[in-house]
Amino acid sequence: MTKTRLYSGMQPSAESLQIGNYIGALLNWKELQQTHDAFFSIVDLHAITVPQDPTALRENTRRTAAQYIAAGIDPSASTLYVQSHVAAHAQLAWVLNTITGYGEASRMTQFKDKSARHGADATTVGLFAYPTLMAADILLYQTSIVPVGEDQRQHVELTRDLAVRFNSRFGDTFTVPEVAIQKETAKIYDLQNPLSKMSKSAESHAGVIWMLEDSAVTRKKIMRAVTDTDGGVVFDRENKPGVANLLTIYSVLAERSTQSLEDEYAGRGYGDLKKGLAEVVTSTFDPIRARVQELLDDPAELDRLLAVNAAHAAEVADATLDTVFERVGF
Ligand code: ADP
Ligand code: NA
Repeated sequence: MTKTRLYSGMQPSAESLQIGNYIGALLNWKELQQTHDAFFSIVDLHAITVPQDPTALRENTRRTAAQYIAAGIDPSASTLYVQSHVAAHAQLAWVLNTITGYGEASRMTQFKDKSARHGADATTVGLFAYPTLMAADILLYQTSIVPVGEDQRQHVELTRDLAVRFNSRFGDTFTVPEVAIQKETAKIYDLQNPLSKMSKSAESHAGVIWMLEDSAVTRKKIMRAVTDTDGGVVFDRENKPGVANLLTIYSVLAERSTQSLEDEYAGRGYGDLKKGLAEVVTSTFDPIRARVQELLDDPAELDRLLAVNAAHAAEVADATLDTVFERVGF
């Protein structure tokens, strides 16, 4: 029986992933890799759509790969590779650019947000074409399932439109993928601003828990997390977003219901809840950080793993690209 093909990826845009990436992506991927033919990419081509320091980018790409592996993505069960190692991504993206409407691309809300943030002068064609590169990532592997956050839904919808359009214009070539939006319960918010999503690219790092930071730092950030003055350990996302966020993280990492946590911490105050949470987070990340260090201490072995995986990815991707080139008349 052939397994359903799945694709997802993350940008190597920081030295460390944050706990939202772990809970919202990696934990989920670890499950999915058992039942799917999974391709997990480190998308460095996407990362350079905003300026990156070359040395840092190369380093962060390796570190991101090490974090995938340390978090449980198995490079012999999944295909774990660096996007720029597979030339077909950029090649297919070019072809897809030629069937994408300018107006259609202009409607992408992430482009509008990012270009507003970076200003007109720093807004590049690369940033504009980000969604067609993402479509190429997905379509190259004849992907059926794309597990992403809600913020990527519009890009996957565009990918579907482009697949259907190419297929009808040039003949059946691409599998039309399904969007698999991750559960809202897995969304993690900034500890200092529990109404905004925790992010690698947050302006302030005070409310971001990094997978690779020292556990004493993590502990301090959790103890300082914004809550409220009500004092009750109750899961109420609307009225108590800070406490709800702490309970969400706790619940996912300890594999316990928020109800059982409410019961345990009833009448005990936020200090105890935070101490308990800090314990759970640091005992999750301590062994991951140690494993990352081991992997980074043997760069030749890590590079070998990435090369083997990229070779497999390229084999699959090139088969699709050959068909595309033939169909468009190359
Ligand atoms: P970041 O904002 O940290 O740069 P991305 O937007 O690149 O993260 O997302 C990478 C992956 O991590 C996606 O699958 C996304 O859904 C997941 N992710 C990122 N931040 C969070 C979060 N705060 N909560 C849950 N999942 C998240
Ligand atoms: Na593999």
